[in-house]
Amino acid sequence: MEKLAVIVPYRNREEHLKVFMPYMEKSLTEEKVPFDIFIIEQHDDKPFNRAKLLNVGFSEAKEYDYFAFHDVDMLPVDSDYSFPDGPTHLSSEVEQFNWGLPYDGYFGGVTLFDKESFVKINGYPNEYWGWGAEDDDVIHRCMIMDVDTYRKACRYRSLNHERNIDRFEYNQNLTKLYEFQNSDSPKTFIENDGISSLTYERISSENLSDRTKLIRVKL
Ligand code: UDP
Ligand code: BGC
Repeated sequence: MEKLAVIVPYRNREEHLKVFMPYMEKSLTEEKVPFDIFIIEQHDDKPFNRAKLLNVGFSEAKEYDYFAFHDVDMLPVDSDYSFPDGPTHLSSEVEQFNWGLPYDGYFGGVTLFDKESFVKINGYPNEYWGWGAEDDDVIHRCMIMDVDTYRKACRYRSLNHERNIDRFEYNQNLTKLYEFQNSDSPKTFIENDGISSLTYERISSENLSDRTKLIRVKL
């Protein structure tokens, strides 16, 4: 049976992790999915970089068959983590979005990828610093590389947190996304930035439980 790696981008959300870890372990055990969880902690003072942390998680868990790229504030109430047909968006009925989607093309929160598709799109981009737009970039990568995407009707509770979005960083991310989406040679964007160009420094690694490992990195 295919083995799942749950990859969680993380920094400074201890209260969420305390709830998420036992909840997820119980939930996936009950679903009878063979899994391990990798918490990838950004251990530097740079702006948070969700997408690059997800690439780090992939490269730390390469021997797994498929991946759930998973925010720490999303708790599955009714979900399906079985091996997907292709990149599959799971967080489609989310409490913080009134049990729906924020917009039709939303691909963030919780997304499953089989290894082959993820390699084909060269993973996530590494250069989206601060909040926003990296999930819009990754679904565009799928479209450009002719990788079909799917969505399952799955329900998620949300853990609350403050939101301090840095407008300058967010605008930079939107500009990056716009340039990619409007480029005459989008494949060049994909080839130049992704798992093939990923660099990071691994600071430490520790088992938080039998199933969950915390890996600290500098990006
Ligand atoms: N995250 C984190 N620390 C941060 C910012 C983000 O651990 O300072 C991780 C965490 O897994 C979180 C995810 O990145 O669930 C998405 O960020 P956030 O929750 O801020 O965005 P939202 O989806 O709620 O707008
Ligand atoms: C951002 C995404 C985010 C979504 C939902 C969009 O405006 O670009 O990164 O996931 O809003 O919050």
